[in-house]
Amino acid sequence: MTNLILFGPPGSGKGTQAEKIVNEFNLLHISTGDLFRYEMGNNTPLGQEAKSYIEKGELVPDEVTIGMLKNKVNANPDVNGYIFDGFPRNVNQAEALDEFLQGKRTEVSVLISLDVDEDEIVARILNRGKTSGRPDDNDESIIRNRFEVYLNETSPVFDYYDKKGKSVKVKGIGSIEEIFNRLCDEINKVC
Ligand code: C5P
Ligand code: MG
Repeated sequence: MTNLILFGPPGSGKGTQAEKIVNEFNLLHISTGDLFRYEMGNNTPLGQEAKSYIEKGELVPDEVTIGMLKNKVNANPDVNGYIFDGFPRNVNQAEALDEFLQGKRTEVSVLISLDVDEDEIVARILNRGKTSGRPDDNDESIIRNRFEVYLNETSPVFDYYDKKGKSVKVKGIGSIEEIFNRLCDEINKVC
């Protein structure tokens, strides 16, 4: 199995690139943000709980997020591997993922981080907000908070996998195609 963590701040292009990678490598794309939005759209209890955090740009509690992630993986066992997009968001979630995959006799193959600076991020998300319909994409203070949360809580996940020799950085600026080619170079090393 090939299990990728597509990593980087909100708006760094994880979702866009994951869709292209899926076509090329036959992996299942799991975006925890998309799963939350699906639950919120259906107004489920999980969606209602997540909403109060998402509208502030805060992280949903780990038990909720990890449980949802495990359900999605368990419901889709017959794939070549997974692309985790937007998960793990902190070191506790990374440890839970490792333990979960170990129980399935597999592991994270590589974490690829898309490198994009804060001003570019804010501009991209505000632009995406014109069409995404996401309230958290339309308010600059929420966007800046999401970036803060990324720096404080999520970026240590890079170091966590770096210590295991599994983290790589890829320049996240350029055309979609250029960035995709950089990602493919890294993925081919672990496939
Ligand atoms: O990944 P994405 O940017 O789409 O996530 C949107 C929001 O969902 C985040 O700002 C956060 O509030 C919530 N989220 C979370 N934990 C995750 C993924 C997303 O709390 N693992
Ligand atoms: Mg996304």
